Amino acid sequence: MSRPVTLTLNPAFRVAPVRRRTFGAFVEHLGRCVYTGIHEPDHPSADEQGFRTDVLELTRELGVSSVRYPGGNFVSGYRWEDGVGPVEDRPVRHDLAWHSSDPNTVGLDEFMAWAKKAEVEPMYAVNLGTRGVQEALDVLEYANAPAGTALSDQRAANGHPEPYKISMWCLGNEMDGPWQIGHKNAEEYARVATEAARAMRMEDPDLELIACGSSSSQMPTFGAWENTVLTEAYEFVDMISAHAYYSEKDDDQASFLASADDMDYFIDSVVATADHVRAKLKSDKRIMISFDEWNVWYQHRAESRPPSGDDWPVAPVLLEDIYSAQDAVVFGNLLISLLRHSDRVASASLAQLVNVIAPIMTEPGGRAWKQTTFHPFALTSRHAKGEVLQVNVEAPSFENPRFGTSSSADSVATWDEESGSLSVFVVNRDAAGALDLGVDLSAFGDLELVEALTLHHEDPYAANSADAPDTVSPRENTTVSLEDGRLSGELPAISWSIIRLARAAA
Ligand code: AHR
Repeated sequence: MSRPVTLTLNPAFRVAPVRRRTFGAFVEHLGRCVYTGIHEPDHPSADEQGFRTDVLELTRELGVSSVRYPGGNFVSGYRWEDGVGPVEDRPVRHDLAWHSSDPNTVGLDEFMAWAKKAEVEPMYAVNLGTRGVQEALDVLEYANAPAGTALSDQRAANGHPEPYKISMWCLGNEMDGPWQIGHKNAEEYARVATEAARAMRMEDPDLELIACGSSSSQMPTFGAWENTVLTEAYEFVDMISAHAYYSEKDDDQASFLASADDMDYFIDSVVATADHVRAKLKSDKRIMISFDEWNVWYQHRAESRPPSGDDWPVAPVLLEDIYSAQDAVVFGNLLISLLRHSDRVASASLAQLVNVIAPIMTEPGGRAWKQTTFHPFALTSRHAKGEVLQVNVEAPSFENPRFGTSSSADSVATWDEESGSLSVFVVNRDAAGALDLGVDLSAFGDLELVEALTLHHEDPYAANSADAPDTVSPRENTTVSLEDGRLSGELPAISWSIIRLARAAA
């Protein structure tokens, strides 16, 4: 039985320009993300600063634009000054968030050196859990002040005379979460975030400051938290954060496949709340969203349980989820949702980059390999160019316990008028069967098909490994063709595709 999906696309359906910052990621002092992830001095590929060059190469291939650092839950107990100065003088500390030990071999200066090599913009989070305004100002002075002050001179003495000019600063992490060290209620957080932001702006009015929003749309305080925080902090911040993780729970595959419906709802709700505060305050300014943690994460699995008791290991195996083909389809759909909201999502960070719920995996002393999720991220980052276009999707639907009814297909497109490149991103997120794609592209003039790639596996739970890194990877979709301005093809059940077209030569 044919199951048609019709996409309506037009270059006039513009949402916003594609923002490079949509393709950010996250490096936290957690598990093996930093130690044996980005940094492993004894690794055969390590450079003179101890960074794994195989991971650097994969990071560049992934097309990462910015990287959030150093946490995460970790940052809420972190003393930034432990991580600067001669490495042999740095203290070992217990990291209470992940019940681990941190030797502080990597800190701000090492991260900035790595970010330069990875060609990514840094995004730095300050500790508003155990610390406050003064420490936020101190790390800002160390990082950004021109030489001539106590802390910027310390940076220079540590070998970095030039200010780092970090623009994006997160005012704490997930302060709405009772698991957070120094957890606060909305009023308490609104106070400290506003005061930190006000003081940081006195040092540099041009910083881009991000207040903590909700840790998920399921938090009991969701909505009310954003309202309280923004009502106080509105004039001092530029963005409010959103965090969301999805996984298949209780064998409910259908709800998991429809996860992007929650991301759409989350973003739309935060935009509505921020704009409500804007109206209340009669402000001209619009608050944007920093979706600075998003991914598939199987939090209930043993891999995510931190050590306990007297065991405080350095870089334990933690949150090392192995992603399936299905996970990559949901993941690709989340990217579709983020892109679709480019008018209000100004920045996003995939959590995380290496080993910890990550697209890049490493063996200590050994290989680095790509998870299934590497591919939708890399292809979207590489080919999303120009303007984001809203796509109208007419498709069958499927029932699921979490959202009721969800569309079997979801899509977004980007159109670069100058080069004449059109990229269509589309998922079939229905386990029931293939969809017959039909797209009328006549509004774009004469186009030719460049390539159609589909990520799909007969077994939706198939995954990659160091020994079989290409079990799940995008393959050419030979069913896709373009005739007289009409694109057609087959989208297999549970698949993510990118279809690239270009203006035909005159
Ligand atoms: O990314 C893993 C953790 O998820 C982060 O440390 C925290 O901010 C979130 O709860």
